[in-house]
Amino acid sequence: MSDQTKFLLSEDQMPKAWYNLQADFPKPLPTVLHPGTLQPVGPDDLAPLFPMALIMQEVTTEREVEIPEPVRDVYRLWRPAPLYRAHRLEKILGTPAKIFYKYEGVSPAGSHKPNTAVAQAFFNKEAGVKRLVTETGAGQWGTSLAFAGQLYGMEVEVFQVRVSYDQKPYRRAMMETYGARCVASPSMETEYGRSVLAKRPDHPGSLGIAISEAVELAVQREDTKYALGSVLNHVLLHQTIIGLESMQQMEMADTWPDVVVGCTGGGSNFAGIAFPFIGHGLRGGPKPRIVAVEPAACPSMTRGKYAYDFGDTAKMTPLTKMHTLGSQFTPPGFHAGGLRYHGMAPMVSHCKELGLLEAVSYHQVECFEAGVMFARAEGIVPAPEANHAVKGAIAEALRCKAEGKSETILFNLCGHGHLDMAAYQKYFVGELTDEKYDESELAMALAGLPSVPDGL
Ligand SMILES: Cc1ncc(COP(=O)(O)O)c(C=O)c1O
Repeated sequence: MSDQTKFLLSEDQMPKAWYNLQADFPKPLPTVLHPGTLQPVGPDDLAPLFPMALIMQEVTTEREVEIPEPVRDVYRLWRPAPLYRAHRLEKILGTPAKIFYKYEGVSPAGSHKPNTAVAQAFFNKEAGVKRLVTETGAGQWGTSLAFAGQLYGMEVEVFQVRVSYDQKPYRRAMMETYGARCVASPSMETEYGRSVLAKRPDHPGSLGIAISEAVELAVQREDTKYALGSVLNHVLLHQTIIGLESMQQMEMADTWPDVVVGCTGGGSNFAGIAFPFIGHGLRGGPKPRIVAVEPAACPSMTRGKYAYDFGDTAKMTPLTKMHTLGSQFTPPGFHAGGLRYHGMAPMVSHCKELGLLEAVSYHQVECFEAGVMFARAEGIVPAPEANHAVKGAIAEALRCKAEGKSETILFNLCGHGHLDMAAYQKYFVGELTDEKYDESELAMALAGLPSVPDGL
């Protein structure tokens, strides 16, 4: 294997199709249900929210879905994204493991989120949509949709989770720079937001609440659709370009991962890097261990239930089978705002149930410690969410050291933390603490899961 540091693909090596893991699942995904009738949801039920092209991508079992040329053309602004060998981090850790990372922070928004924002805006524009409404946690997704919306001349309105809105004011400025409007959620702009604030005026918000507000607004106007930054099958599909490029780059590096690591909020950047490798393994290729890292303060896969639940807090979405902490659960206000979601993508949850991945959780202070170590070794300051993947990769590298194994570890550095420096400052002065969720609130949220007959 070479001593090369950076593995770069040319623009014409960029994948021409996204990869759909649904084609290779040994068992199909559980059906999505209508919450009232408990009958399977059909494409027409989703039509008020999404354009038909995206609904079709949600349900397709085709292995490849073509990336339209106009989308590839926008992707060329930052893709193919680089893959690095972390030589300096390896040396500091004294590990025989070889650590590689795919860097998605080179996008305009600073993370993987534009991979799906551009695709979603494109298909909405094709369908004649004039306005997109969405939620955002950390602001990476809202920024990405704001950028994509202005490319296609669409209005964008973003509900940003209150705690992140206050923690990261420059994210709002960035969304406004791209011409979008950003309001803190819960807000006074929707019936649901007003009802939440009436009960608790200082509510920190959650992704579940922000989704409810965005959906409420989206269904009110014919020219408006809703866009989601994670969780749904089509969002995960768009992110697979990360893993597809990484496979070519691992070949350039003349190695193949023994372990693939990603952080999980709703599951999209993790799916992006992991699904192409999982599929390759299911089709007879090597089977790397796949490790999903989630925050200990919002541990849907390691602490939640695998059950049918709502994607939002106001119970407006269809029911999907996923690992969930309950749609009424409000995670504490830790800094990885993008990971503060009560559920997990149904496709990622299905992988866990099929034994195709392992899930671990870490607290935020140990993740920042890992992020600082990474920044000092490799130069890039990771987003707080990405620090979870860094921590997971370092844990694997230290295991290799203890076992004397020179495995190849690949992780997704899904975003930079340039607009998250207030959290780093808090870490340096010792004010960043490990937030704990409220056990009784979690028990209540789990007890309140919708009742769906066994066998569904
Ligand atoms: C940098 C970053 N990483 C990860 C996430 C979590 O989302 P997902 O699990 O869909 O990748 C977010 C969400 O906002 C994010 O901003």
